[in-house]
Amino acid sequence: MATWAERAAREFTDAFGGDAAWAADAGGRVNLIGEHTDYHEGFVFPAAIDLRTRVAGRPRADGVLRIRSLNLSEEVEAVVADLVPPPVADWRAYVLGPFWALREAGIAVPGADIVVHGGVPFGGGLSSSASIEVALVALGAAMAGRSVPEDIDAPEVARLARRAENGFCKVPCGAMDQMASACGKAGHALLLDCRTLAFETVPMPDAWVLVVADSGVRHAVAGPEYANRQKECAQGMAIVRAAFPEVAMARDLTMERLDGLKGRMPEVSYRRLRHVVTEDERCLAAREALSRGDGAALGRLLAGSHESLARDYEVSCAELDILVASAVGIRGCVGARLTGAGFGGNTVNVVEAAEADRFCEVLARAYLDRTGHPTTVRVVRPSAGVSVTSLRP
Ligand code: GLA
Repeated sequence: MATWAERAAREFTDAFGGDAAWAADAGGRVNLIGEHTDYHEGFVFPAAIDLRTRVAGRPRADGVLRIRSLNLSEEVEAVVADLVPPPVADWRAYVLGPFWALREAGIAVPGADIVVHGGVPFGGGLSSSASIEVALVALGAAMAGRSVPEDIDAPEVARLARRAENGFCKVPCGAMDQMASACGKAGHALLLDCRTLAFETVPMPDAWVLVVADSGVRHAVAGPEYANRQKECAQGMAIVRAAFPEVAMARDLTMERLDGLKGRMPEVSYRRLRHVVTEDERCLAAREALSRGDGAALGRLLAGSHESLARDYEVSCAELDILVASAVGIRGCVGARLTGAGFGGNTVNVVEAAEADRFCEVLARAYLDRTGHPTTVRVVRPSAGVSVTSLRP
């Protein structure tokens, strides 16, 4: 049995006594490039990582869910049949939402005792919530008698997990995080088309590793800024669609058309859409640069992405800018940018493998010197997607 499943089984026994029946495990994600493009049906290039959430559960027949967070040492209890989206989403919504989404899809869990151990830093832009949702959807499906991936494949687990976040937690996120968490492949990144949800797995060159550096600034996608960016884009898109009815989403827009409409839309909407159009181009170009092992081209694309996110989409902050500016001056750095929604959280750095240890040390020291705050800088490995395992002999 995998180590994570043994740990989850032990955690269950410590919490509830007796044996768990199922365990599931899902990764956080790091996004290489393609930021704030998923909800415009554009392209993203994330990887599931080895910072992960593990869960274990035992079904019960009385329709009651008892879910314990080992991180918070808190427990929530609810009746599956009575689950309704709460007015305000706190941690309970993130662990109950998956069972609501499953029930809405006709896959009602008969009730269960469950432990959740989140190994992805909360609010760090590495998709702690998606990893929890994905792991719990897979666990719930197994407890409702559906095999993963035979009856319910990884993209369907991702779809249900996103439904939990959109419909139960009321966060208007795109498809990237749950797809990366559910469909990841060890040693690979996923080039995902967020219109069709088709994806291609692209091997990470052995010469490079991914490093994440934490700004220490916490963000929540549930906060108003994330939704505001969508509204500002929607204002611009209304004008675009009136001029070009065939342009359904920002993903279909070109810079030429956008520039032609520049004076007719709010300046802020123009800049937001300029980010989306150029970021889609950078994302596709980065996929080629990664495959060619062309570090100079990849570095330029990552720099362009960060700049566009900072200036046009305005989702960076001083701490993220410091991390990126410091990183690119360190030997072995191929490129750096903020990753995830922004407003804090982590940066992603592509670093020559041979220089990775030194890079982490030097970047942590530079950040401490410039901000007075210590930070965590670590290598993350592109990892497998969701897995479920039976704990019954
Ligand atoms: C968050 C959301 C994703 C995506 C990113 C920005 O992680 O959950 O859907 O929009 O922000 O790229």
